[in-house]
Amino acid sequence: MRLFAAICLSEAMKAALIDAQNGMYDGGVRGSYTQEENLHLTLAFIGEYPAPEPVLDALSAVSFTPFSLSLEGIGCFGDLWWAGMRPSPPLEALARRLRRALAEGDIPFDRKRFSPHITLLRKARGDMPAVSLSGASMTVEAFSLMRSDRGRRGMIYTELGRFPADEGSDGA
Ligand code: 2AM
Repeated sequence: MRLFAAICLSEAMKAALIDAQNGMYDGGVRGSYTQEENLHLTLAFIGEYPAPEPVLDALSAVSFTPFSLSLEGIGCFGDLWWAGMRPSPPLEALARRLRRALAEGDIPFDRKRFSPHITLLRKARGDMPAVSLSGASMTVEAFSLMRSDRGRRGMIYTELGRFPADEGSDGA
C-alpha cells in the first residue's frame, strides 16, 4: 500500500483553496485540479509499504503542541501548481520529528527536503493568472497517516490513523 503522513485541512482552509482553484480555472488554466476532499499538506511521503502497523507505531511517538498554519502565496514545480504556507517553525519541527520517528522505526520515506505545499493542480496548461489567495488560517491539532489508492476518477485518500497534538497552548 502507498502511504504518506499529512495534515488534513480545515473546511475554511479548503474553501480558500477552492476559491484559488476557481480563479485559476476562470483565468483559463486547465489541468488536473485536486478534488476538495483530497487537499492536504504532506509531511512525509513513505510510498509503498507492506502494512500500516509499524508506521502507526512509529508515528505514535511524535509529540507536538497545536500550532497555527496560514496560507501564503502560490507557486509551481514545473506544471504542478501549489499553495504555500507562511513560514512556520512549529510546522518545520513537526515534519522533522515525524521524519526522525520514521527513520528510527526503519521505515523508508522520501528524504527530499521538506518543502511545505498544498497541490492545487497537476499538469497545468495556461499562464498563471493573478489569483489572490486569502490568508486563511487553521490550528493544526493533529496529523494523519494516509493511504493513497488510484480510483477510477482520480486518487482516493483514506485516513488510517490520526495523531492528535499534546494538550497545550498554541505554539505558533
Ligand atoms: P505532491 O502533491 O507534491 O505530488 C501523496 O502522493 C502525497 O505525497 C502528495 O501530496 C505528494 O506531493 C506527496 N509526495 C511527496 N513525495 C512524493 C513522491 N516521491 N511520490 C509521490 N508523492 C509524493
